[in-house]
Amino acid sequence: MTAQREADALVLFGITGDLARRKLFSALYDLTAADRLDMPVIGVASRSWDDDTLRLHARDALESSGRAIDEEVFGRLAKNLSYVAGNYREPTTYRNIADKTEGRGCAVFYLAIPPGLFDDVVEGLASVGLNHRGRLVLEKPFGRDFQSARDLNEIVHRYFPEDQVYRIDHFLGKEAVQNLMIFRFSNTVLEPIWNRHYVRGVQITMAEDFGINGRGAFYDNVGTLRDVVQNHLLQVLALLAMEPPVSESPDAVRDERVKALRAVVTPEPDDVVRGQYAGYRAEAGVAPDSDTETFTAMRLEVDSWRWAG
Ligand SMILES: NC(=O)c1ccc[n+]([C@@H]2O[C@H](COP(=O)([O-])OP(=O)(O)OC[C@H]3O[C@@H](n4cnc5c(N)ncnc54)[C@H](OP(=O)(O)O)[C@@H]3O)[C@@H](O)[C@H]2O)c1
Repeated sequence: MTAQREADALVLFGITGDLARRKLFSALYDLTAADRLDMPVIGVASRSWDDDTLRLHARDALESSGRAIDEEVFGRLAKNLSYVAGNYREPTTYRNIADKTEGRGCAVFYLAIPPGLFDDVVEGLASVGLNHRGRLVLEKPFGRDFQSARDLNEIVHRYFPEDQVYRIDHFLGKEAVQNLMIFRFSNTVLEPIWNRHYVRGVQITMAEDFGINGRGAFYDNVGTLRDVVQNHLLQVLALLAMEPPVSESPDAVRDERVKALRAVVTPEPDDVVRGQYAGYRAEAGVAPDSDTETFTAMRLEVDSWRWAG
């Protein structure tokens, strides 16, 4: 991995959306408070807002998250915020973004948008050469299945080199998950017994005590397996099952995770249980005859030197 250029602009596609409202403005505010976001933050979406509407929306989003706003910090964030109104399928949108980022050496293009538009945005950025002046951050889901994930990777790699592409899995940012490597490899009691001789099985449980929060139309098209198992929980499995990486570098950790995932034996239908909570079909946006799972249990085997047998 080459040394990364320092970013000097953040372009946020999907600034008017739910993820931005619930999570991203808080993150922008925290980065500003920590003096780590002294750069233009350009929001892009289709509704015809202007810079001031975006600033009002940012304040409203922060207030609804229940945090106390320090006016000095918010003032610095608001000064950096600006807005580009445009459809992601229209070439003019990208010309306007190019104008706004003129003179900037490296922008971060953050895609918090419906996944069906990822390819339009990647190609739109490339059409004005912005792929050579920035890196790409993609929110999940990364494709719907193996083939669509491969197709998306192919489009992304046509314009952005791999070390400029970030596929976000926010679950890996949770403190408990981040601590797993330290818990395993820096613990002189656990480390020697972390193998098939002493551990019969590991249960990974993700239990949530809330419903689908009005996001029926989204959830019914996705389900538990796609929403949290194939990404978040398989990453946790990889952290629990992998060998120690040769260094703490992202590539070294990634290599060991990949090896652990390769050692997972493809499950048979008998190893998987899909279920649906009572009342789910009555939620708004859910089909009355929906077969989407809201519960999944799965037994997996890791056929590696450490775990086989
Ligand atoms: N919400 C979450 O909790 C959450 C969690 C993890 C991952 N994600 C992922 O994050 C992404 C965004 O999710 P979200 O819930 O924020 O979606 P959302 O509320 O539907 O927001 C979509 C955003 O994209 C913009 N947009 C859509 N079509 C457009 C077009 N043709 N041209 C220009 N702008 C367009 C919308 O702007 P306008 O309304 O102005 O058109 C809006 O800002 C998705 O990939 C989702 O899977 C979301």
